[in-house]
Amino acid sequence: MKKTAITSAEIAPVLAERWSPRAFDETHTLSQHEALSLLEAARWAASANNAQPWRFSLLYRGDALWQKVVAEGLTGFNQSWAPRASALLVVSIKNQTPDGRPYEIARYDAGLAVATLSIQAEELGLRTHQMAGLVHASIHSTLELADDLDVLVAVAIGKQAAAETLQGPAFEREVAPRTRLELDEIVLHGKP
Ligand SMILES: Cc1cc2nc3c(=O)[nH]c(=O)nc-3n(C[C@H](O)[C@H](O)[C@H](O)COP(=O)(O)O)c2cc1C
Repeated sequence: MKKTAITSAEIAPVLAERWSPRAFDETHTLSQHEALSLLEAARWAASANNAQPWRFSLLYRGDALWQKVVAEGLTGFNQSWAPRASALLVVSIKNQTPDGRPYEIARYDAGLAVATLSIQAEELGLRTHQMAGLVHASIHSTLELADDLDVLVAVAIGKQAAAETLQGPAFEREVAPRTRLELDEIVLHGKP
């Protein structure tokens, strides 16, 4: 299924075609090339002062850490669909700047890295689905993350499957149209 963005001017095909399915092909496994390509795309994202405050934990479907994060680190709705994805990428951020202040821009930086990775996934014929519905403390403990890291989001990564492989609310959301605010609602100044 495609859910191409409807836009008033053309945008790059990978941007128009990107969306966040919940139906993933549970027979697909992430190849080493795919994993490296995704991580390299994230690594080369821009960040404030080039400080790169993101840290990544790539958990492959079926591995011991993946099993524990799926069982204890995802909220109920996410547990209903995310385990069929080929991998889960847990994104953590540094919570303090090198001089000990709260690291406010780190979330923005990590968002850029995930955005870049999600576009690279499209380029590879894969799809991503970001999740904030996590039990953050459980994942922090499972992954034995250092105290200076906070768990931010997890990203399900894999090959899209047919919507019919889902049931209930996940199926309903899968077949619902994608919507956005109009440009008039989000561009406060300078709308073309
Ligand atoms: C930071 C973030 C957190 C999200 N958390 C969840 C989540 O926990 N569960 C879920 O099913 N979808 C989650 N989503 C997916 C959004 O609902 C989805 O991206 C949004 O509806 C736009 O749809 P699209 O990505 O298909 O364009 C999240 C997306 C982002 C960017």
